[in-house]
Amino acid sequence: MSHQQEFEQQSQTTETIQAWLVHKISQQLKINPQDIDVQEPLTSYALDSVQAVNISGELENWLGRRFSPSLLWDYSTIEKLTQHLVSGSEASDLDSSMDWNAEVILDPTICLGNRQVELVTEPAAIFLTGATGFLGAFLIQELLEQTQADIYCLVRSANEESGKRRIQKNLESYELWHENYSSRIIPVLGDISQSQLGLGDEQFQKLASQIDTIYHGAALLNYVFPYERFKPINVLGTQEVLRLASQVKVKPVHYISSVAVFESSAYDQKVVLESDQLAHSEGMYLGYSQSKWVAEKLVMMARDRGLPVCIYRPPFISGHSQTGVWNTDDIICRMIKTCIEMGSIADLDQKLDLSPVDYVSQAIVYLSRQKESLGKAFHLSNPQPINWKKLGDLLRSFGYKIEQLSYEDWQTQLENNVRSPENPLYPLLPFFVKRWTEKQLTITEIYQQSRRMQISCQETLAALANTDIVCPPMESNLLSTYLSYFKRSGFLTVISKQ
Ligand SMILES: NC(=O)c1ccc[n+]([C@@H]2O[C@H](COP(=O)([O-])OP(=O)(O)OC[C@H]3O[C@@H](n4cnc5c(N)ncnc54)[C@H](OP(=O)(O)O)[C@@H]3O)[C@@H](O)[C@H]2O)c1
Repeated sequence: MSHQQEFEQQSQTTETIQAWLVHKISQQLKINPQDIDVQEPLTSYALDSVQAVNISGELENWLGRRFSPSLLWDYSTIEKLTQHLVSGSEASDLDSSMDWNAEVILDPTICLGNRQVELVTEPAAIFLTGATGFLGAFLIQELLEQTQADIYCLVRSANEESGKRRIQKNLESYELWHENYSSRIIPVLGDISQSQLGLGDEQFQKLASQIDTIYHGAALLNYVFPYERFKPINVLGTQEVLRLASQVKVKPVHYISSVAVFESSAYDQKVVLESDQLAHSEGMYLGYSQSKWVAEKLVMMARDRGLPVCIYRPPFISGHSQTGVWNTDDIICRMIKTCIEMGSIADLDQKLDLSPVDYVSQAIVYLSRQKESLGKAFHLSNPQPINWKKLGDLLRSFGYKIEQLSYEDWQTQLENNVRSPENPLYPLLPFFVKRWTEKQLTITEIYQQSRRMQISCQETLAALANTDIVCPPMESNLLSTYLSYFKRSGFLTVISKQ
């Protein structure tokens, strides 16, 4: 630290640091500093990952100290964060040893009561959440193709016209749109984090009586935010969907979960079957995984109260197996781009479980239409996954200059590179750099050392056995399709020798 910085740091008082934080946060959010309450939960300000990383970077420059890039998520309020910065203490005020079972609280009014479950084999009206997302686009297409139903899509928008436009644009962006889809897509303006999905009593009841089945895919996906940021959307939102399912007439809920629910260290070195209980929650690090675990437990609780539910657990979802179209904002696309740009990849035999979005959406829609699926969970993992080492070999075979480094060397290179805002992984900096546990390991080091669980998909494959729905292996052909899409969409600009 220079003398100038030392002097500046010593001279920063609680007031100046707090005022600096309020100024920077309001500047990033483009809001008035007066609208920021230093005692409000920090998660209630909708800072995105890049904004949070920007602020902790600027703070490092200002105070001349290194901070965790997740600094803004490690303290509950600006006031608490300021106290930490002034005192220099390391301890976060957030409870990292939460009892996740205590979070599993389902409103007791969400139950079967004295109603009968009447299953409709050919639904006339389907309710879908997450229609403006990646998987949602493919689910809409598959539901439109496989059923005669109208699809009522929950969408955040100012009015129905703009809501419908958002859904259409999303399908267009994934090269799925057909004009004849339009009449069967019905926008429902709402917000999953609000009570009754943000719908008034009358509209909620009307929707509950109109629809025959529900597909719930809306969620906040992020590898950096703390649990508190996810809870209103992923947990409480799921409760509101279950409420909709339980009112007026009981209808099935097809819930899109994630294999991330098995993040607990208790599953290390185990094989996890679809029919296994979701028993363990200890040793989960990521707020996203914690929220998906709690949400899935709510769905199971509803099932135990008699509601018809199905749970689908995809691994990482990759692009379409034929067109290559992928949500390039996602962590795997950013990782592949970073490896190509850095010219290195880790020599890991750790599996990269990626299933193409067309496989995931087709499997979900098919399984959801089988009566015997009710009450079950399905694993949409790729039966023939790839590992990082093989990915490096394939990228080299396509003409990219990529060095295979030991994990430690690659991590060091990544940590140095990822601090540049130009790096595709910059918004995910805390995910790669933050150190956990007494051993001070990054999340990738923890995953690497603990020999992660193996997700079995045998029961799912058996349920799909009589169909032509097959998950393509993650091999040369598929990777070539993805790289072509990356190039044609402008996501990847590094030229290979081929
Ligand atoms: N992508 C993966 O690799 C992966 C892997 C395993 C499991 N999953 C699960 O699959 C599901 C879909 O993932 P995805 O990749 O398609 O996600 P995505 O592209 O990020 O889409 C998320 C969707 O949720 C909606 N949403 C978020 N907050 C909402 C709110 N408050 N009210 C209403 N809608 C809201 C979004 O609407 P806006 O457009 O308005 O934001 C968007 O339509 C999620 O449940 C996820 O947990 C995904």
